[in-house]
Amino acid sequence: MKFLTVLTALVFATVATAEPIDKRACGPTNCVCNGIQGQFCGNESVNPACRNDHVYECARGSGRACDYGYRNSCARCGELQC
Ligand SMILES: *[C@@H]1O[C@H](CO)[C@@H](O)[C@H](O)[C@H]1NC(C)=O
Repeated sequence: MKFLTVLTALVFATVATAEPIDKRACGPTNCVCNGIQGQFCGNESVNPACRNDHVYECARGSGRACDYGYRNSCARCGELQC
């Protein structure tokens, strides 16, 4: 019985690690930015890799932004706050 308990715990731990349900996860992109740390809404007419309705975080130094995903204000007015 003890073995089964350990096995079950292991399976759950693996599933939990494999699928982090984190809405704030910042995914890798080809969206480039000015190298100043901070968040901004993408602009496809400036850089097609930066979607208009997504919010990005610019990484200081690398000049590469990661993608936080869809944000209402970016879709509505292209700003972090409307
Ligand atoms: C994208 O940038 C262009 C040029 O700066 C600007 O005219 C346009 O309004 C911007 N679009 C969005 C969705 O912010």
